[in-house]
Amino acid sequence: MKYRKFGKLDWEVSALGFGAMRLPVEGKDYGKIRRTEAKNLIRHAIDSGVNYLDTAWIYHRENSEGFLGETLAGGYREKVKIATKMPTWMVEKPDDLDRFFDAQMERLQIDHIDFYLLHALQQDWWDKMKRFHYLDWAERKMADGVIGHLGFSFHDKFPLFKTIINDYGNWSLAMVQHNYIDACREAGTQGIEYAVDKGLAIVVMEPLRGGQLAKEPPSDVKVILETAIPGRSAAEWGFRWLWDQGNISVVLSGMSSTQQLEQNLVTVDSSRIGSFTSTEHKAIEDTRKVYEALAPIGCPARREYQFPSCSTISIWQKCTTI
Ligand SMILES: NC(=O)c1ccc[n+]([C@@H]2O[C@H](COP(=O)([O-])OP(=O)(O)OC[C@H]3O[C@@H](n4cnc5c(N)ncnc54)[C@H](OP(=O)(O)O)[C@@H]3O)[C@@H](O)[C@H]2O)c1
Repeated sequence: MKYRKFGKLDWEVSALGFGAMRLPVEGKDYGKIRRTEAKNLIRHAIDSGVNYLDTAWIYHRENSEGFLGETLAGGYREKVKIATKMPTWMVEKPDDLDRFFDAQMERLQIDHIDFYLLHALQQDWWDKMKRFHYLDWAERKMADGVIGHLGFSFHDKFPLFKTIINDYGNWSLAMVQHNYIDACREAGTQGIEYAVDKGLAIVVMEPLRGGQLAKEPPSDVKVILETAIPGRSAAEWGFRWLWDQGNISVVLSGMSSTQQLEQNLVTVDSSRIGSFTSTEHKAIEDTRKVYEALAPIGCPARREYQFPSCSTISIWQKCTTI
């Protein structure tokens, strides 16, 4: 496993992290985790050096945190850092902060959480959190030793990203959507640079666009990628593009099978910061152009974004700032 600096913390994170949002499930029932299989998968990841696990109140219809609690019992909890998130859109009054947090600690069977994030911040939810004095509440939790470090995950535009960072001087991490198609979407590469400059660690979500980039690509894309590096899988292209970037701390993947985990472990082990050749950069650039051309005319920047399932972003957005 490769390890990387985590912002200003004196701790190194595995370059591959595990997102407990796309675990194997029974049939199409997103709420029914195949527990034995998923438990083996996560434990195998940890045994292979993964030391960062991400979950949230809502994942797997509110079953992810409880499942993780079970999985980490018996010695695994001590081997990893866990991140979970306050479901910002569900908070209706200041008392809800304690209500959600206490329930999360119970589900996870822990007495302190390493990283606590505000989930999916966008303008109105950030405004609400400020109105409810979330940061004062969170500072008290840190002083009590039940929260280790604070962060936020983000689903809005760069100006708000910058504002959130500037509004509080003690963020440890920002979690952003980042993949080679969406490099200028949401926080974007400029947001990543801004956050890193302020000492935040960058945690990447949706590195394969929720799995879309691992599927059979359009034929033009296939030719470009295959010509550049014959035999490299679409998933590997997605991860390698990210691990080439030194300002990313950890790339989370919601792996749903041992095969995917094994492949991603091989990829991370052979990745290296700044190792992308001009041929690889050109292939990604050409690929992006193909996807941009596929964006349906007449609906630029339409966001078919049905939170929380990020894989429902259904159009390729134009990317003009990179
Ligand atoms: N805070 C937020 O707002 C937010 C939003 C989204 C995600 N997240 C977090 O970020 C984590 C990562 O995002 P993500 O799950 O969307 O990551 P992702 O890597 O973009 O998508 C995961 C999917 O990619 C496919 N995949 C992964 N490795 C593969 C491989 N080697 N070969 C082929 N397919 C592969 C699988 O799809 P199939 O299962 O279809 O095969 C898997 O379910 C989530 O799990 C979650 O913890 C947070």
